[in-house]
Amino acid sequence: MSLFPHPHLLAIEGLKEAEITQILDLADEYVEQNRRTNKKKDLLSGLTQINLFFENSTRTRMSFELAGKRLGADVINMSTSTSSIKKGETLIDTASTLNAMRPDLLVVRHGSSGAVKLLSRKVDCAVLNAGDGKHEHPTQALLDALTIRRRKGRLARLTVAICGDVLHSRVARSNIHLLNIMGARVRLIGPPTLIPAGAERLGAEVFYNMEEGLKGCDIVMMLRLQTERMHGGYFPSVSEYFSLYGLDYEKLKNAKEDAMIMHPGPMNRGVEIDAAVADDLTRSAIQEQVEMGVAVRMACLDLLTRGKREGEAS
Ligand code: NCD
Repeated sequence: MSLFPHPHLLAIEGLKEAEITQILDLADEYVEQNRRTNKKKDLLSGLTQINLFFENSTRTRMSFELAGKRLGADVINMSTSTSSIKKGETLIDTASTLNAMRPDLLVVRHGSSGAVKLLSRKVDCAVLNAGDGKHEHPTQALLDALTIRRRKGRLARLTVAICGDVLHSRVARSNIHLLNIMGARVRLIGPPTLIPAGAERLGAEVFYNMEEGLKGCDIVMMLRLQTERMHGGYFPSVSEYFSLYGLDYEKLKNAKEDAMIMHPGPMNRGVEIDAAVADDLTRSAIQEQVEMGVAVRMACLDLLTRGKREGEAS
């Protein structure tokens, strides 16, 4: 059983190509397990996983919960709206309280960039970042990579366009890092107001025009307009945004004929993506991304507890 050299999964930045490949290879095995009638293993039996989400989530929280349960862990979801956090408890106090209950895995989503890393320094167990502010969302990039690798057979040398609200997107940031590590070519397409300054330094080519940016792309990854993170006007109107940057069949014609469409969800139909394109099963991998999400998270939970499980077994 090969060990994973990191105690936590906080970001894609800093991971090595071989480590990402290790996660994806293991996740491929979990895809098979998840397609069987009996989806359960007792690998993590006796271990406790706490999901601590300070921000809304459907896919990520459910998927981490299923992943833990399918591996036999005891999974607890802590709701931040009904906990003492509402009474003003600080993040660090919450972390210390949870730590005293001796969890083995903490899955954390927080609205501030860096909060999950800060919390990881205060606890004794493995911490998985389920999204911190605009910073990173590592398991999303891993599940996207698994989806691409399974459909296209590789990641290296593919051209991937990440389109829309890149500025506020932790999904984009994690994907830019991962795709660069794995040797893919990254393009960012969006209005100048929604592309971060210095994006080229992250290893991406920037386009402000969809038709130009999509030319010859293998993958078209659409992002939601994250209005909850916007203070002020970043675009004139939703209809103008859709006509310039929304993915419809007309704009898609510029990409390769077999280009695959992706979206991390939640999707806003008619804003960043046309409903017919999103539902086109021959082109869109959106449902497959959700399926891969469970497998990738199982792989991460498995790898991050290996050292501990090995230690106890010997
Ligand atoms: C994303 C997130 O929360 O960063 N959603 C997800 O995890 N699938 C993207 C988004 O909210 O738009």
